[in-house]
Amino acid sequence: MLGLTQQVRQQTAKTGRSFLALCIAIVITLTLFRWGSVSFYVSPVVDSLNVATGRADEQSCINCHVQAEEFSATGHANALTRAGSPEVLELLSRLGDSQQALDEGMLVDPQAGVSLVDGSSSISLDWCFGSGRHARTWVSTIGDSQGATDLLEFRWTWYSESDAFDVTPGQPEEHFSTHLGPFGVLYDHSKARRCFACHSSYLAIDDGRLRLEDIETGVNCQRCHGQRAAHVASDGKIRDNFWQTASPIDAVNRCAQCHRRPEEVDADELRADDPDLARFQPVGLIRSKCFTVSQKMTCTTCHDPHRPLEAQDSLGDWQCIQCHDPAESSDTLCKAGQPENCLQCHMPKVQSTDPLRFTDHWIRVR
Ligand code: HEC
Ligand code: HEC
Ligand code: HEC
Ligand code: HEC
Ligand code: HEC
Ligand code: HEC
Ligand code: HEC
Repeated sequence: MLGLTQQVRQQTAKTGRSFLALCIAIVITLTLFRWGSVSFYVSPVVDSLNVATGRADEQSCINCHVQAEEFSATGHANALTRAGSPEVLELLSRLGDSQQALDEGMLVDPQAGVSLVDGSSSISLDWCFGSGRHARTWVSTIGDSQGATDLLEFRWTWYSESDAFDVTPGQPEEHFSTHLGPFGVLYDHSKARRCFACHSSYLAIDDGRLRLEDIETGVNCQRCHGQRAAHVASDGKIRDNFWQTASPIDAVNRCAQCHRRPEEVDADELRADDPDLARFQPVGLIRSKCFTVSQKMTCTTCHDPHRPLEAQDSLGDWQCIQCHDPAESSDTLCKAGQPENCLQCHMPKVQSTDPLRFTDHWIRVR
């Protein structure tokens, strides 16, 4: 048994040591924080589509990140445009002068909209979907009787490959004989909202009505990286480690939110040789041996989402050599003995039923 005074003295010494340890810990933490080697991680709130709060000015990113330098030229940045912007007005005026317009009895005024020659109906075109890499499709937003926003998808799409207008993908060759049929297909507000959701970065919705004036067009930094006001205010100390820690399938699914999730295609519809499957890159990719066997492939193995596609030498073979390297004895090499042009045989561009071509991401021996 220790005497009472001895016990008290030991207690005091312990408390003193704990207190000292605590002080040291605080000092170390504060010092590291000042040096920037300790950062506070927020949970991965990556999807910011409908969130108004916590957003930073998109223009601020360029102050600290090279990733912003070429971004404005990407398909993502230009996935949606207001129909009044000069480059899409110019395209639409070409439709006005075309044979199609004549054949369909359409009068196209890029500023005012489209009307039928007989004067029976007209629409305005307010938004243009697609960056023009493959195609551009105009739409008209129309309020329904409940005040929700419906969407009329224009019947005529401009295709870059032919540099001409043709019927919009998914629409019938012969137009419907409804009131708006000659102009295209009318979608209800839930479908309207889905179109905008994949082509924009902030979407405010009040009871089904899209607040069109507030839409942030295109897929921008914060659409993929979450709201960043706190990040900017803390000089980059408050971070989000989603992309650094995501498993390959979680990372692919994040891109697949818009490029289509693998489970959106029924198993019995899955045929490697279906040309229409190629536009849904994640669906094929995750079935290729490259993905399943390597267990480390993601979309960013081959794509830098911060730079335009054509700036990435994507027609070269570096993508494949990362894992099929003749200098690495453990890598599987081409059985046909081919040293280059891998894409041509294993990942070709295929023609879909629409006048569009996509790269078949189901990498395989054909
Ligand atoms: C005042 C400077 C500053 C600004 C402005 C800034 N960042 Fe950062 N950011 C940093 C620093 C510092 C890091 C950590 C070091 C690094 O990875 O470069 C970082 C890291 C990141 C990362 C990787 C880690 C993570 O949290 O995901 C992303 C993504 C990022 N920033 C996105 C953005 C976006 C988007 C914007 C614009 C809305 C932005 N940053 C604005 C300083 C800044
Ligand atoms: C919010 C929806 C959305 C997300 C998330 C998204 N994309 Fe996209 N992506 C699009 C749209 C829309 C286009 C078409 C742009 C156009 O009209 O050309 C596109 C185009 C592309 C292109 C074509 C390149 C270009 O510059 O035109 C590549 C490559 C691509 N995405 C890769 C990715 C990768 C990799 C990810 C994940 C890191 C991703 N995308 C996430 C919507 C998205
Ligand atoms: C699930 C997300 C999603 C929805 C919903 C969606 N898109 Fe897209 N859209 C994409 C992606 C991803 C691309 C890029 C395709 C590619 O290049 O592989 C794209 C591309 C396009 C293009 C460029 C042509 C092309 O095929 O590359 C147009 C035009 C377009 N979309 C219009 C629309 C319209 C109009 C709607 C609504 C009727 C719509 N989209 C709904 C994700 C979506
Ligand atoms: C289509 C989605 C997408 C968009 C849009 C996007 N990023 Fe990223 N970003 C990613 C992904 C995915 C990664 C992880 C890269 C990897 O896996 O190599 C990343 C990584 C980063 C990093 C960390 C780089 C590193 O070396 O760790 C920074 C910083 C960054 N992005 C900033 C930005 C900025 C600034 C913008 C807008 C100009 C932007 N991103 C737009 C998907 C995106
Ligand atoms: C093994 C490399 C590789 C991986 C992994 C990869 N891609 Fe691609 N991707 C390519 C190549 C090569 C092209 C054609 C580039 C060109 O035409 O310049 C391409 C083109 C594209 C395009 C442009 C439209 C098209 O089909 O031609 C989109 C969109 C795209 N990829 C999205 C994705 C998404 C989303 C993922 C992840 C699910 C992904 N890619 C993973 C190599 C890859
Ligand atoms: C992240 C690593 C990685 C990348 C990048 C990659 N592959 Fe693979 N690939 C693999 C692995 C691992 C296998 C399985 C090899 C085995 O079974 O021995 C494979 C298998 C294949 C096969 C055989 C498929 C089958 O069904 O038998 C082909 C063909 C192939 N890759 C071509 C390519 C081409 C072309 C590219 C570039 C566009 C590429 N790979 C990029 C890792 C990769
Ligand atoms: C001219 C067409 C052609 C080109 C170009 C080509 N391949 Fe192949 N590749 C084939 C064929 C055909 C086979 C199947 C051969 C067999 O099974 O006998 C094959 C098989 C493969 C396999 C499977 C090997 C195995 O053991 O199962 C891989 C991996 C592969 N190729 C990778 C590549 C890469 C990487 C490139 C570019 C450096 C490339 N190929 C270029 C036609 C080609």
